[in-house]
Amino acid sequence: MAKATQEQSTTQKSGSQASAGLQSTTAQNAQEKDSTSTMTSQENNGGANVKMDDTAPLSKFFLDALKDIYWAEKALTETLPKMQQAATTEELQDAFEDHTLQTQKHVLRLEKVFKLLQLPAEGKKCDAMQGLIKEGEEIIKNTPEGSMTRDAALIIAAQKVEHYEIATYGGLVQIALTLGESEIAEILDRTLEEEEETDMNLTDIAESSINFSAQEETEEDVEDL
Ligand SMILES: [Fe+2]
Ligand SMILES: [Fe+2]
Repeated sequence: MAKATQEQSTTQKSGSQASAGLQSTTAQNAQEKDSTSTMTSQENNGGANVKMDDTAPLSKFFLDALKDIYWAEKALTETLPKMQQAATTEELQDAFEDHTLQTQKHVLRLEKVFKLLQLPAEGKKCDAMQGLIKEGEEIIKNTPEGSMTRDAALIIAAQKVEHYEIATYGGLVQIALTLGESEIAEILDRTLEEEEETDMNLTDIAESSINFSAQEETEEDVEDL
């Protein structure tokens, strides 16, 4: 009985640390994207290497969220090449090609995470990502082929995807640390950094020329395409 009470109190403690970690995720990601942030969070966790109890609610949520992002990353490996093909400029095509390769790596990393947890890699349909993918398909349908406007719109669609991934990985890194899964946290953090770089890269591409060219595009230009 005493043991059960102790276990419950440990679970509650982990839960509140996770939510505190989640709240500070954005600031931490902006300021401390190196291993220093990992160390700080481990220290916050009392330095204890608590093995994950996969029956605890937070652990169950963590596993569910891993399945969700695994499904999302796998879906993106099929969507990004379509966006690459639809893009007008070589610059954006190259960016989508690079990110397809990175996304394939993200899938493999998640498979490694499942392996570390001694669980089969399993996806669970992510409604949010499915919606974002649909939005990208709508953009391809509703913008003229070969136009700069299409690229400007595709960049926004891709950035919405990146932001979903950043929010997910940012939160999962903190929960992994809270659960004492520091190796898993490091793996997820590597992907988080790549998602953030991709997001910034897309902003640079939009701001360097695409948005300006799209703004100058006239209806006649588009009709001539
Ligand atoms: Fe990804
Ligand atoms: Fe991504």
